[in-house]
Amino acid sequence: MHKITIRILVSLLLVSLATQTPATTTGSDPHSYAQPQLMRIQHIHLDLDIDFAQQQLIGSAELQLQRLQQQADELVLDTRDLDIRKVEFEQDGQWHSTPFKLAPADPILGSALSIKLPAAAQKVRIFYATSPQASGLQWLTPAQTAGKRKPFMFSQSQAIHARSWVPLQDTPLVRFTFAANLRTPEGLKAVMGANNDAADQDGNYAFDMPQPIPSYLLAIAAGELRFQAMSERTGVYAESVILAAAAAEFDDTEAMIKATEKRFGAYRWERYDLLILPPSFPFGGMENPRLSFITPTVIAGDKSLTSLIAHELAHSWSGNLVTNATWADLWLNEGFTTYLERRIVEDVYSSRRADMEAVLGYRDLQADLAKLDAADTRLQPDLSGRDPDDIFSSVAYEKGSLLLRWLEHTIGRAAFDTWLRGYFDRNAFVPMTSAGFLRDINQHLLQQHDQVTLAQVRAWIEQPGLPADATLPQSDAFAVIDHARQQWLQQEISADALPTAAWSTQEWLYFLNKLPRDVGVKRMTELDQAYHFTASGNNEILHSWLLLAIANEYVSANARLRNYLTSIGRRKLIIPLYEALLETASGRAMATSIYTMARPGYHPLAQATVDKLLASTAAE
Ligand code: BES
Ligand code: ZN
Repeated sequence: MHKITIRILVSLLLVSLATQTPATTTGSDPHSYAQPQLMRIQHIHLDLDIDFAQQQLIGSAELQLQRLQQQADELVLDTRDLDIRKVEFEQDGQWHSTPFKLAPADPILGSALSIKLPAAAQKVRIFYATSPQASGLQWLTPAQTAGKRKPFMFSQSQAIHARSWVPLQDTPLVRFTFAANLRTPEGLKAVMGANNDAADQDGNYAFDMPQPIPSYLLAIAAGELRFQAMSERTGVYAESVILAAAAAEFDDTEAMIKATEKRFGAYRWERYDLLILPPSFPFGGMENPRLSFITPTVIAGDKSLTSLIAHELAHSWSGNLVTNATWADLWLNEGFTTYLERRIVEDVYSSRRADMEAVLGYRDLQADLAKLDAADTRLQPDLSGRDPDDIFSSVAYEKGSLLLRWLEHTIGRAAFDTWLRGYFDRNAFVPMTSAGFLRDINQHLLQQHDQVTLAQVRAWIEQPGLPADATLPQSDAFAVIDHARQQWLQQEISADALPTAAWSTQEWLYFLNKLPRDVGVKRMTELDQAYHFTASGNNEILHSWLLLAIANEYVSANARLRNYLTSIGRRKLIIPLYEALLETASGRAMATSIYTMARPGYHPLAQATVDKLLASTAAE
């Protein structure tokens, strides 16, 4: 037999072992009580009051069901901290109330809501209210907003927090369309990850979303919002005081869409708008369909942090079209998206910038690989019994992206791009597993190109760490920075003689991140005098600087550190600072003092992370 034929047979065998259950029709999700094999939500109609006085959403969710098992007489939904008031089903055009049972809460999964349903019923309506502590919502006072005049609220549903504001099947295995009627107090505009109307609607907002989405992409926000268009199909929603700055910072968005469409296929969601949140938003960004949610901490004034927009936009293909079936396959969303993000940056800015960002990302990965348990450095970790929020690391992002980069380099860009474009097309609006990915890439790329075997790709997914032949990112620009840093450290040149005139944010980050942690107060002072880091308006540079300040007990930055931690709630920026503070007794005292001030302004997810961090280190 030909060598190639044997390879194909072996590949087919491996793939068939890996794919006992096709993800598209069955499968189960350990992070949901739902039973999608019995019935599925097809469409949701929300009717909600956004009550800022009570910090609650109050109203109803009407679920239209598709029955896969006609006899099933119970619908099980996910909920967390919901006050369920009444449940009804529809029969012959009439609503009838029906018994329901709310199970005791599991700390990770919440409470299963079981609803009795006659076999013919296809619509259920649940009257409910959310808790002011809902894990997926944050309610802000006017003081916590940019404009200081009106309150603000927003959702963050990924990974398993949609259930804290809507009773539903909270698993990416299920997709639904939706419509909503929302009522807001005077002067507050509501938006959703749906078709928004830029015009003000005076307290009564109607939405509809014709493309089916998984629950983690369900999104809502309300505040004193205004809209500014950036192009025909892109625009920004933000509080008026930051609207113009945001629209200027992000006006490459249209170019980013065009670049992605050209290589990877049509943008399938019609509009693409950005919602700029208050600084307590716990993430950099969230890819809610048609309306990415964006932290204001990336508005640096020079577009240097806009790869975040490339990232959230890229999810419109990787994630929102082809969706991880469960949270153990998060890399299918984040690894693909990180890879696409760098391709977009290369096209819209330069390969120089894309390479620098890839090196910075790789350095984050190295740090995580060094500190995580080996089992959690696999692309597909075992999440059973665990909270998906707890194992969040750069592995899914950066190792996932390195796998695609390695495929691109080994097989060649043209063939790889053709496969990737086809992968999005073939699997659009479908949940995807690692096994499904292997099957697709085997059939549509590896069988035609023998530089890479299926076994190699499987090893990337199943083995811990990085394969020895990974294509590691490199940057010539950074070689220059290494040299300059070395010269300064060895006192060959003074701080103000560093050749910094044309350094970008990425170059500064690389310069700072690779300084020895014990560089000393004297040298910190020298740098600060030359470059005014403590007063930097770039939150990433400031973050790197404050890490150094903590390690060196550079007290001149203490006030800035306190101010940073009390005004920003983005987890990626604050958690490493708390971790660094907790290394010493005096730092710990400072951390607890700052956190007492900061905690009320943090999002529930950020509060939970810092609470855990303080508790775990107190026990040491
Ligand atoms: N979808 C993620 C945010 C997320 C992931 C929320 C997992 C909950 C669970 C989003 O696209 C993201 O990756 N944000 C990053 C952006 C960065 C990598 C450019 C962030 O928030 O830092
Ligand atoms: Zn992402």
